Amino acid sequence: MREIRTYSEKETEQLGKKIGKLAWPGMIILLRGDLGTGKTVLTRGIARGLGIDEPITSPTYTLLHQYIGRLPLYHFDIYRLTDPEEMYDLDYEEFFYGQGVSVVEWPERMEDLGPHEYLEIRIGKNLDHEGEERIIRIKPVGEEYKKFAKDLMDI
Ligand SMILES: Nc1ncnc2c1ncn2[C@@H]1O[C@H](COP(=O)(O)OP(=O)(O)OP(=O)(O)O)[C@@H](O)[C@H]1O
Ligand SMILES: [Mg+2]
Repeated sequence: MREIRTYSEKETEQLGKKIGKLAWPGMIILLRGDLGTGKTVLTRGIARGLGIDEPITSPTYTLLHQYIGRLPLYHFDIYRLTDPEEMYDLDYEEFFYGQGVSVVEWPERMEDLGPHEYLEIRIGKNLDHEGEERIIRIKPVGEEYKKFAKDLMDI
């Protein structure tokens, strides 16, 4: 478990950009954290790191937005999922186990349909300090992801 603190939206976006630069085909990133903590901001950074310049907004009603970059980005926001089985309507396995990078906001909604190997990023606010500080915890699950987490800390 690695912990990073950011003090502005821009810093969180910068962290995302580093992640996007190191991302590989088939990478899956699960983003946890309350409403308004910065999951979409981090995703925007990942998109920038993949060379995607379009505006990144949460795919609230559609649940999935796709972008073309160095690798495709599949941005899921499944906050509104009412049943994990709805993931099959999205053909989610085609994306998770394809050649792009999948980022999932609110992965808890898919319960046990989640992948076995993934990078989990948990964003929290520091309740002692009002404002823009975020505590970002990175947990790699699987060998590739462990190596990734090491590389991320080295750059
Ligand atoms: N250090 C920080 N990192 C990221 N965002 C920050 C930071 N400080 C303040 N913010 C603000 O927090 C908000 C984060 O919004 P964002 O849409 O990314 O949240 P979210 O986690 O995706 O929420 P939701 O669950 O509703 O999709 C933005 O308004 C951003 O400006
Ligand atoms: Mg969001």
